Amino acid sequence: MKFTVLTIFPEMFAPLQESILKRAQNTGRIKIELVNFRDFAPSKHKNVDDIPYGGGEGMVLKPEPIFRAVRSLAPVEGKRRIILLSPQGKLFRQDIASQLTCYDELVLICGHYEGFDERIRSLVDEEISIGDYVLTGGELAAMVVIDAVARLIPGVLGKTESFIYDSHNEGLLEYPQYTRPAEFEGMKVPPILLSGHHANIDLWRRKESLRRTFLRRPDLFERLTFKAEDYQLLEELVEEYPEMALYRKKWEHLKAKPKRRRSRGEIDGC
Ligand code: ADE
Repeated sequence: MKFTVLTIFPEMFAPLQESILKRAQNTGRIKIELVNFRDFAPSKHKNVDDIPYGGGEGMVLKPEPIFRAVRSLAPVEGKRRIILLSPQGKLFRQDIASQLTCYDELVLICGHYEGFDERIRSLVDEEISIGDYVLTGGELAAMVVIDAVARLIPGVLGKTESFIYDSHNEGLLEYPQYTRPAEFEGMKVPPILLSGHHANIDLWRRKESLRRTFLRRPDLFERLTFKAEDYQLLEELVEEYPEMALYRKKWEHLKAKPKRRRSRGEIDGC
């Protein structure tokens, strides 16, 4: 998969040359190309911004450099998606990261200054925001998108970095994890994790994921689709958190359903 970034600050992308993304580029799983759209400014002084029509504070990115930079991109074999990073975009979440793995090339346009000429929006397929706050530019947001998408591409994470049960997979937060020692400063690892009983461990982990999501992210919990095996776990959790009964209509239909195991490979994506 190729990521092409249109930016006037290509040096900001140094963090992508470290760790897992560095390895992914070296092994050819992903390619990252940085295009400085200042090189496409038609004026002698290579201006990329100008004062806003109608007056007001600040400078606005001009359309010509970005249009010319996009039109200069080499044709892609397969599907390309052009994305504008902006605080006005659709909120970036794990399901969007999964959907973006379906493309062969993502072109990420980083805005800067106080904004950009509205006509730039006509170039893009999608506008993405990484959160309800305003950054100084789209560069950090583009890096967040690249990192979250790249790690879902087969072969980018090693076996030990598996992502299937990560936080936000299936819209659930991850269960608590422990490693040795079994007791540290009086804090003990839950005995079930030392039992070697894998089916019970899976159930415990699922229950803790449900618990965490309910307690920490009720907004995610509200949007969950439960599985048949969750029924019993949810009923146990309601005993602990009576206020959870508010959501019972979301799982009570599962009572009589036969169990169906979801295979490890069944994840969102292409
Ligand atoms: N540019 C400035 N703020 C941003 C945000 N929150 N998300 C994406 N791009 C941005």
